[in-house]
Amino acid sequence: MSSVETKPSQSETVRKHKEFLFPAVTNYYEEPLALVRGEGFHVWDDQGNKYLDCFGGVLTVSVGHANPKVNEAIINQVKTLQHTSTLYANKPQSDLAEKLHQITPGRLKKSFFTNSGTEADDTAIHAAKLATGRHEIVVLRHSYSGRSATALSAMGHAPWRPLPPQVAGFVHARAPYCYRCPFKLTYPECGLACANDIEELIMTTTTGEIAAFMAEPILGVGGFIVPPPGYFERAVEITRKHGGLFIADEVQTAWGRTGDKWFGIEHWDVQPDILTSAKGLGNGVPVGITVATPEVADKYPGLTFSTFGGNPVSMAAALAVIQVIEEEDLKTNAKVVGTYLRERLDELKDKHQAVGDVRGLGLMQGLEFVKDRKTKEPAPQTVAKVFEETRRRGVLIGKGGLYGNVIRTGLMLNSTKDHVDQMVEALDAALATV
Ligand SMILES: Cc1ncc(COP(=O)(O)O)c(C=O)c1O
Repeated sequence: MSSVETKPSQSETVRKHKEFLFPAVTNYYEEPLALVRGEGFHVWDDQGNKYLDCFGGVLTVSVGHANPKVNEAIINQVKTLQHTSTLYANKPQSDLAEKLHQITPGRLKKSFFTNSGTEADDTAIHAAKLATGRHEIVVLRHSYSGRSATALSAMGHAPWRPLPPQVAGFVHARAPYCYRCPFKLTYPECGLACANDIEELIMTTTTGEIAAFMAEPILGVGGFIVPPPGYFERAVEITRKHGGLFIADEVQTAWGRTGDKWFGIEHWDVQPDILTSAKGLGNGVPVGITVATPEVADKYPGLTFSTFGGNPVSMAAALAVIQVIEEEDLKTNAKVVGTYLRERLDELKDKHQAVGDVRGLGLMQGLEFVKDRKTKEPAPQTVAKVFEETRRRGVLIGKGGLYGNVIRTGLMLNSTKDHVDQMVEALDAALATV
């Protein structure tokens, strides 16, 4: 295992960050890291310390830092044509749109490209309202959808919402959070109470007819909450009964991350009318996608424009990422290495009382920490301690959850079992200090 005793940061970059950026732009770690280089599975800080990157800047570096194939595509495109705006067609954009049609589930066919997950979700919400002529949207508590006025209103997390919801029409359904069931029930005896409750939510808090139900297949920022089998089938059935479309927010769960499938929602037997994604598609290059069925896309009226939407460099990077995932069979890798990761995290649960729950799919696995396994009182202090201790051992991880008590891991899709071992050994050693 790597056991780097890292030096405390003396970083000029961190000092300037603290002085000249909005204080709300907080960094991880008591002494924040300033990263200067990334290669493959590792990053380096400006003090010369090397780290195994097990979070990828929030599941965004998907096929390794500075992946040579992705870099080559980017460099070639920069040398050829860097910018067009959406006023002109460009080949990488058309090719990516065609590819997305081929790999997305169901009848999804037409794409709109933007720069981020926030814009992807905004576009989806607008498209659903325009296609249905309705304005109310069911979203989930514990969800995250970005930082525009619309996305902030949609999400279900007070700590990320600096203002009250500015956009009307969102109603927040109970999360399918089995570890902390909002109905204090247990699956499967619960009969999917959380999904069934969507009907009462619609009938009591909306006009009775909705534009859409928007949900992440796994609630990412919420702490890798995985809905139980049957959840989406029931929730989407209710949605359609009340005239709504289903929007799958795949910003975190796409590109093979959950193992075996391109998209997280494919683990359930439902087909979205609109799918959004971003993050891992660009391997770090800004990109957002909203893919819709022709009926939905065709009802988006008038003119629409995005200066950087469909930027040829981002599109070329995205095409290269998809090609790497296909050529290196990384969906299978995420399943195989993810299964091994899950076994190793389950061992940590057996060994350390602080671990209340282990959950996730594929290479999207998290640990929820509690003070007491019976009361399930959240233990964010444990996460803080484990963070510092794993960093000291040269391993970077992520956190999440409404209570800040979940560790999120997001190893690269091409990670090996050795990387899993390094990360789990660092977690184990860190937990021993708690
Ligand atoms: C599920 C989900 N949707 C939307 C977003 C917003 O994406 P971005 O930060 O690229 O705007 C995020 C970001 O973490 C996300 O996790």
